[in-house]
Amino acid sequence: MVEIPVITIDGPSGSGKGTVSQRVAEALGYHLLDSGALYRILGCVALRQGLDLNDHALLAQTIQQLDIHFGDQGPGSVSVNGEDFSDIIRQEIGGDMASRVGAIPAVRQALLNRQLAFRKSPGLVADGRDMGTVVFPRATVKIYLTASVEERAKRRYNQLIAKGIGAILPDLLRELKDRDERDSNRSVSPLKPADDAHILDSTNLSIDEVVTRVLNLAADF
Ligand code: DC
Repeated sequence: MVEIPVITIDGPSGSGKGTVSQRVAEALGYHLLDSGALYRILGCVALRQGLDLNDHALLAQTIQQLDIHFGDQGPGSVSVNGEDFSDIIRQEIGGDMASRVGAIPAVRQALLNRQLAFRKSPGLVADGRDMGTVVFPRATVKIYLTASVEERAKRRYNQLIAKGIGAILPDLLRELKDRDERDSNRSVSPLKPADDAHILDSTNLSIDEVVTRVLNLAADF
C-alpha cells in the first residue's frame, strides 16, 4: 500500500510556519493540519469556562468533546460547537494559553488521534511543534523552520500593527522568549527538530523563498 505523503513543518512561534504551510498545501492540493489551532481552541475554552489548568483529566476530556471544523467559513476559519472561533484563537492570549495546555501530557494524548485523522489523500501538510518528532515520525519530508527571536518579534509586531492592533515590541519579544522557553523545555513533545528534519532559517528569507525551498524538497520524493 502506498502511504499518503505528509510534509511536516515544525518550528517556534513567528517563524512563518502558518503562512508557509498554507501556501505549500495550496500549491500541492494537500490537506492542512494547523495543530496549534487545536491547542489554542482548548486554551480559549479553558479560559472562557474558567477551567482549572491543574485538572488535566478535565482538560483532556474537554478537548475530546469539542466539535471542531476547519475551513467551513473560508480558508483559515475554524468553528467550535457551531461558533466562529477564527479570530478569538489568534489573539496573543490564545497563543499563551495554548502553550500552557500544550505542556500537559494528557491533553497531547487526547489530541493525537484527531491529528492523525488529517492524513487523507492526496496528502497532508502538518504545521506545529511535534509533527515530525511525535505525531508523524515517518513523514515523507520534515522541515524545521526557524528565525531569530528578534526577527520573529518584529514580524509579529508588523502583523498586529497592520491589523490596527496596538503592540509594544519589547513586550512581544519577552513573550516570545517565554513561549520558546516553555515549548522547548516541557517534558512531553518539546519543540526540537526531528533528527531527519531539514532546517530552514527564514531570518533573511522571504515567504516566497521559503515556500520554493519546501516545494523543492518535496519534489525530490
Ligand atoms: O503554532 P501556534 O503559535 O499556533 O501554537 C500555539 C501554541 O500551541 C504553542 O506556543 C505551543 C502549542 N503547540 C503545541 O504544543 N504543539 C503543537 N503541535 C502546536 C502548538
